[in-house]
Amino acid sequence: MRKNETEVLFFRIIFLNQLNHGSFMTFTLITGASKGIGKAIAEELGKRQHNLLLIARSEKILQEQVKKLSGLYKIKTDYLAIDLSAPGAPEDIYNWCVEKNYSVDILVNNAGYGLSGSLDKYDEAENINMMQLNMITPVHLCQLFLPMLRQQQKSYILNIASSAAYQAVPYLSIYAATKAFILNFSRGLRQELKKTAVSVTCISPGATDTEFVVRAKIGEKGLKAANKLNMTPETVATIAVNAMFAGKAEVITGFVNKLGAFFAWLLPKGFVEKTAMKMYE
Ligand SMILES: NC(=O)c1ccc[n+]([C@@H]2O[C@H](COP(=O)([O-])OP(=O)(O)OC[C@H]3O[C@@H](n4cnc5c(N)ncnc54)[C@H](OP(=O)(O)O)[C@@H]3O)[C@@H](O)[C@H]2O)c1
Repeated sequence: MRKNETEVLFFRIIFLNQLNHGSFMTFTLITGASKGIGKAIAEELGKRQHNLLLIARSEKILQEQVKKLSGLYKIKTDYLAIDLSAPGAPEDIYNWCVEKNYSVDILVNNAGYGLSGSLDKYDEAENINMMQLNMITPVHLCQLFLPMLRQQQKSYILNIASSAAYQAVPYLSIYAATKAFILNFSRGLRQELKKTAVSVTCISPGATDTEFVVRAKIGEKGLKAANKLNMTPETVATIAVNAMFAGKAEVITGFVNKLGAFFAWLLPKGFVEKTAMKMYE
């Protein structure tokens, strides 16, 4: 029997068992759920009575969050503190779910970060770490959880890209490219899964008031621009969750960000890139 068939059989047995015992229960798994947009998505879904599995590195914050959310919304919650940029992390998360009998029906790939500055401002390991977290980990998680998601009556993948996915952004080049990757991967996967129970949605936030700018080391000009446009993580989370349940393919958050993506498409690429460069150099 092939690996996929074994997995499908395994989950079928689990589900039948759960149905027989009247204990059928599914979970939303969210990466980067300790802070910012991921934390807000967890709160939004908790409010809507979804059981939650929170993943990030900050164990203490995750502990507090699961306690708070299960108390507030009377839902099941658990967490796993793990560095998602470690190549083996997706398998560890998947195995943790299987061991704990957590059946995932919503996978939210949110964890990610940027690094501003020229390519050689950071060493190779730093740039590769960002690419691993922003691209390889979400794809690996999708691949591992797909058999489980396919077995659900209805299931969702929600990937978080960025408004930076719609153009090259000098001095944020790798980050913007990782987000273009996620956007295109999401759209392709969505079509592949069109005839299945799995719906794939990609959300592209613009500037959002989180710790993103700190980790990305965004300079003064970039910060000024971000502060003018910042949306709250809660607003972004509501848009994301609504779009996911509505089965949308792709949503850019906020009118100004939508307009930005439209002009990035309309205007000459060189002009658009030079304008963006002024913000991050
Ligand atoms: N904020 C913006 O302006 C903006 C705009 C467009 C797109 N986005 C995207 O939105 C997503 C969320 O970012 P955010 O703005 O909410 O940033 P944030 O406040 O910095 O939160 C990032 C989350 O990812 C987790 N994380 C980071 N590195 C990790 C790692 N190696 N292993 C495990 N977890 C890790 C963090 O938790 P720990 O630190 O506890 O590990 C945290 O929960 C990212 O994909 C980002 O690219 C943000």
